[in-house]
Amino acid sequence: MLKCENFTGQAVSLNALDNDILELNFDLQGGSVNKLNSVTLVELQKVTALLSESTGVKGLLISSAKPAFIVGADITEFKDHFSASAADMKTWVQKTHQTFSAIENLPFPTVAAINGMALGGGFELALLADYRILASDAKVGLPEVNLGLCPGWGGTVRLSRLTGAEVALQWLLTGKPISATVAQQQGAVDSVVESNALREAAIAQLDAVIAGNTDYLTKRAQKHCSLETLEGGADFSSLEKQFSKQLDPNYPAASVIFDLVKAHSSMPFNDALDVETDSFVSLAHSDVAKSLVGLFMNDQLLKKKSKQWGKQAEPVAKSAVLGAGIMGGGVAFQSASTGTPIVMKDIREDALTLGLKTATKLLDRKIEKGRLDEAGKAKVLGAITPTLEYGEFDQVGLVVEAVVENPAVKAAVLADVEGSVSADTVLASNTSTISIDTLAENLSRPEQFCGMHFFNPVHLMPLVEVIRGAKTSEQTIARTVAYATAMGKSPIVVNNCPGFLVNRILFPYFNAFNRLLLDGVDFQRIDKVMEQFGWPMGPAYLADVVGIDTLVHADHVMQEGFPERMGHDGDVIAELLLAANALGQKNGQGFYEYGVDENGRRYKEPSGQCRQFIAERVSEVTEISDQEIIDRMMIPMCMEAVRCLDDGIVESAAEVDMGLIMGLGFPRFRGGALRYIDTLGLDNFAKKVEANAKQGPLYQLTDGFNTRLSGDQSFY
Ligand SMILES: NC(=O)c1ccc[n+]([C@@H]2O[C@H](COP(=O)([O-])OP(=O)(O)OC[C@H]3O[C@@H](n4cnc5c(N)ncnc54)[C@H](O)[C@@H]3O)[C@@H](O)[C@H]2O)c1
Repeated sequence: MLKCENFTGQAVSLNALDNDILELNFDLQGGSVNKLNSVTLVELQKVTALLSESTGVKGLLISSAKPAFIVGADITEFKDHFSASAADMKTWVQKTHQTFSAIENLPFPTVAAINGMALGGGFELALLADYRILASDAKVGLPEVNLGLCPGWGGTVRLSRLTGAEVALQWLLTGKPISATVAQQQGAVDSVVESNALREAAIAQLDAVIAGNTDYLTKRAQKHCSLETLEGGADFSSLEKQFSKQLDPNYPAASVIFDLVKAHSSMPFNDALDVETDSFVSLAHSDVAKSLVGLFMNDQLLKKKSKQWGKQAEPVAKSAVLGAGIMGGGVAFQSASTGTPIVMKDIREDALTLGLKTATKLLDRKIEKGRLDEAGKAKVLGAITPTLEYGEFDQVGLVVEAVVENPAVKAAVLADVEGSVSADTVLASNTSTISIDTLAENLSRPEQFCGMHFFNPVHLMPLVEVIRGAKTSEQTIARTVAYATAMGKSPIVVNNCPGFLVNRILFPYFNAFNRLLLDGVDFQRIDKVMEQFGWPMGPAYLADVVGIDTLVHADHVMQEGFPERMGHDGDVIAELLLAANALGQKNGQGFYEYGVDENGRRYKEPSGQCRQFIAERVSEVTEISDQEIIDRMMIPMCMEAVRCLDDGIVESAAEVDMGLIMGLGFPRFRGGALRYIDTLGLDNFAKKVEANAKQGPLYQLTDGFNTRLSGDQSFY
């Protein structure tokens, strides 16, 4: 007869079903998802003890009462756990191993019924069961690599024993969620059923095992064999080649996982678990994991803030965009594709045609990739109303102004549109360089005006800076944030200042670049060093991509805005290029020359003209190490990031860093400029700044920084 105490906790319950089967059910109270947080793990330990003491149990069903099985460990708790010493962390991990092993070795068969998602720790828990039954729409995976970690609760060991090394590495190194069908084909789960039949199928599986139709113990034992015994030794040197793309030295978790799977493939089960634990602990203490886990937390903060803003605003049911150019066309496409119909106005018919053509091209690409059908395309295009008139503007909740970057044109256009919209419509300018307060001067309802700075290309770049002018109302910010969020973007609210957040921090970096050029440091070398540092492109290449004209224009705005530190001591190479009509990538001439060779291959090589301009202005070539180049480039950027935080341009270090990650492609593994200072240590960073003080006002510590330093306060 079955004897087992029932249990009902805040996250886990244990109850008897028919036929001497028990059900271990996850249902974390107060949240929409199940996570393996401390409360859950403590309760799981209690339930495991009850299970071990039980008698007469014939089988265990592991299930979830939420729409997803278990989404993983609770990342918000990582900071506390990861700040412990290696020994304490190991003890913490091993405690969960004990609970997990006890579940895995229960003296009766176990079946996990997986609905929705089982990721990370959630999937590691599912791996304990003798059988995994998946709902057909469920996904499973081990995404720890994305946080700079490896699975720590046996995932690398159990998965590799089930699927073999190659598939396990595929899962572990990409970190991607895997669909139910693929997971079954690859041997990680046993069967896939329609989601409404999941529970029944899982119980039927238990009944079959109980009836003696299936030998669960042999299956269980296999999971504990060494991988070598199971698959006769994988060829790790060819696997290393196969996964070379994932083994990026800037993201060391992937290499650690590869070495780990290779090392434990020949080990007995418990030794393999031990090796995994050691790898997990050492990765958890790495700077990269701190940065990547930090980015996850920052992203959560942005989402929370957007949600709060969203609660204060009515959703925008219909919008409009002025200008059908690069940005206006992009905004129209993005709005229509995410469900907000949009009126697109230009003064030129051909601009409207081009705007629609661009949208059509993007939609066709989606069709080619199988992500959209013709009906979907027609729906999106139907949601864009091209026009030369203000006719429908009285029906829109928000207007994005994206006409040419000219203060007089923008002033006239904004005043015009204000007269054509209803009394509560929000106007938002996509200007990159003009002060929101200056533009507001021409409006009779400046409280209903703000900046909405998208990045190019709009459909790909996640960031939108929502810029609050001196007179902008909170209601206006709320509606603009809500619209940006509805467009699938990540808005950050920024107080108005020259360059807003992202360009204000970028231009000191370009200023530093020009100083290095005048010291005779070759731009190709600077690009190489900064790319090795982790930037997707070095400053010279970036300048060409941005466009030398745009760069020079914005640089002037920054010099005017912050004359005390953003001026140049000597000639500005970008200005010389502009004077020679070298506009960068757009006309094939900039710091580099761009073209197509006789074999049809694109090339990019340093421009002789540019090298000449520089050589004529260098009096003495400075000997400089790569690290010195990095310091000279990064200090002005980092110090401006500090200033933006201290001046209250944004509210938190998280927003500064997320702005740089999303807007500039700041190396993710470094977590942003303020995280970079934290990683170096404030004292160490201060020494670097002091060592470069002679470079001028961009290389000075601020009072705010010094207060932090003396109070031993990091940014995170
Ligand atoms: N291109 C970028 O990378 C980028 C990035 C961020 C922000 N921005 C900003 O976005 C804005 C637009 O830039 P763009 O690159 O799309 O320019 P663009 O030259 O491609 O497009 C501007 C469009 O505005 C139209 N226009 C001019 N006057 C108008 C009026 N009175 N009413 C309606 N339409 C009018 C023009 O016909 C043209 O089609 C600028 O403020 C720019 O600073 C550009």
